[in-house]
Amino acid sequence: MNTPHTSTEQELRERIDPARVPVHIAVIMDGNGRWAENKGEHRVQGHVNGVQPIRETLTGATEIGIKYLTLYAFSTENWSRPKAEVDALMELLVNTLASEVSELHENGVRLNAIGDLDSLPVGCRGALKKAMDHTAGNMRITLTLALSYSARWDILRMVRGVANDIKEGRIGMHDIDEKAISARLSTSGIPHPELLVRTSGEHRISNFLLWEIAYAELWFTPVLWPDFRKEHLYQAVLDFQQRERRFGRTREQLQDPQ
Ligand code: IPE
Ligand code: IPE
Ligand code: MG
Repeated sequence: MNTPHTSTEQELRERIDPARVPVHIAVIMDGNGRWAENKGEHRVQGHVNGVQPIRETLTGATEIGIKYLTLYAFSTENWSRPKAEVDALMELLVNTLASEVSELHENGVRLNAIGDLDSLPVGCRGALKKAMDHTAGNMRITLTLALSYSARWDILRMVRGVANDIKEGRIGMHDIDEKAISARLSTSGIPHPELLVRTSGEHRISNFLLWEIAYAELWFTPVLWPDFRKEHLYQAVLDFQQRERRFGRTREQLQDPQ
């Protein structure tokens, strides 16, 4: 997990206030295909080169005390991509999990996954389960991979569960509140992200964590995911620390909370 420090990275890191880092950062890792195409390579090469920035982001996040990192790795909509690309992504996932699991464990990372995991190829599911079981006791940081995930898939699933519980008489209308809904989503038990990062210059959410990011700060960068490094993560955190999070209140109320 050790990568050489660049001076910008070091400088940025020193400017971060450790008492005010987000507890949870979510990342839409975008731009792998364009990165490869810019180099005249196949899109899959972009995905292969998207693994190193995952290592960097995880290490960087751990070093500044982030407790939860959630990465959008494969969306429900991504199943519509050419079969060869989907197959390559699934294979990359299995191989990466196998090669990284001991290091994740040594570094205190607990691996978690959200999404329609049953739709993943059996080998992927197996590798994922193995890695999650292996790292289940770790406490330093929780790395959640969103795989075959979309927020609408999750919300639909939650609504069906609520409807069924009402129908069966297990709960009543008054039991449905924000807390109950959060507890039924696949991100249950994970605090909602305070910061959402998206790379590649796109300014959209693409069906990621719609309920959970209701009050997240959004940070966009034109950097393509394979070029994303710790320094970019630190820029995002520094920008976050300069924002005034008002949650509907006025500035005066924040300064004098009565
Ligand atoms: C993100 O990069 C990775 C996945 C969605 C799996 P893309 O593959 O979307 O790259 P672009 O956006 O086409 O450049
Ligand atoms: C979002 O990226 C999904 C992931 C990063 C896994 P996409 O590249 O699929 O999103 P759109 O299609 O540009 O919105
Ligand atoms: Mg994309």
